[in-house]
Amino acid sequence: MTEERLLALQEVSFAYEGEGGQKETVLNRINLDIHKGAFVSVLGHNGSGKSTLAKLMNALLLPKEGTVLVTGIDTRDGELIWEVRRHVGMVFQNPDNQIVGATVEDDVAFGLENMGTDPAEMRTRIRESLQAVGMEAHLYDQPHRLSGGQKQRVAIAGIMAMRPSVLILDEATAMLDPMGRREVLNLARRLNREEGITVVNITHFPEEAVFSDRVIVMRAGQVEWDGTAAEVFADPDRLQALGLDVPFAVRVRHALAAEGVSLPFILHQEELVEHLCKLLLKR
Ligand SMILES: Nc1ncnc2c1ncn2[C@@H]1O[C@H](COP(=O)(O)OP(=O)(O)O)[C@@H](O)[C@H]1O
Ligand SMILES: [Mg+2]
Repeated sequence: MTEERLLALQEVSFAYEGEGGQKETVLNRINLDIHKGAFVSVLGHNGSGKSTLAKLMNALLLPKEGTVLVTGIDTRDGELIWEVRRHVGMVFQNPDNQIVGATVEDDVAFGLENMGTDPAEMRTRIRESLQAVGMEAHLYDQPHRLSGGQKQRVAIAGIMAMRPSVLILDEATAMLDPMGRREVLNLARRLNREEGITVVNITHFPEEAVFSDRVIVMRAGQVEWDGTAAEVFADPDRLQALGLDVPFAVRVRHALAAEGVSLPFILHQEELVEHLCKLLLKR
């Protein structure tokens, strides 16, 4: 695979301005490259700067220092700001705050209308993107009547209709029930695999991160750790010291090791079950 750089942050710092004009640095000299086709998870304690990082990636915020490049476009280039936002779609935590249309169709049409898409093309794209998220049967439904997971899938359809390069989920599953969480995560994984959409999944559920190509751990405005899921989750003590949860399978393996039962390194619950069954049958 050619490693095309889709998002690049170079020495990026950011500070929000306080009421008295004082500034507190919340991101401090971040360097990050995200390649096309990657599925990246971002973990980190509340307040570590994850949402600020996400907003810098689609020009909702601009860096105070350093440079953010989206497909090579500098996000400070005011003339291309809509191009940046079309490339990098973002879904937020609260599904109810993201509904803009009276029907699912209107909701998905919103971004396309703003882009001045022609009506026939718009209908095609709405249908395609609702199919991509499995919501085509809800075209004329009122969004507020849908479940949380369905609302987030409609929000993702609105983004997909714009033919983005990157989908950022900023704790998009945090307010959902387990089924809704699964729906949204599975959808993101499928869009990544089948449509080649680059995904940045900001989450505090470690189980969501075990499927990633790469896990970035933020701490106090800096990248504390950047590695594969296997690398990051191989060190549960370090994760816990950072105030982060550890995936269930990793926790169980760790606890078993303390009891003298050793299993090979595992990330997924299915693997855990498989290894435990083998172990029990051998006895
Ligand atoms: N709009 C804002 N104005 C001032 N401070 C903010 C604002 N948004 C976030 N912050 C502060 O910036 C820091 C990082 O916040 P955020 O990026 O939201 O972190 P996370 O998403 O990891 O919880 C926190 O200390 C937070 O209080
Ligand atoms: Mg946040």
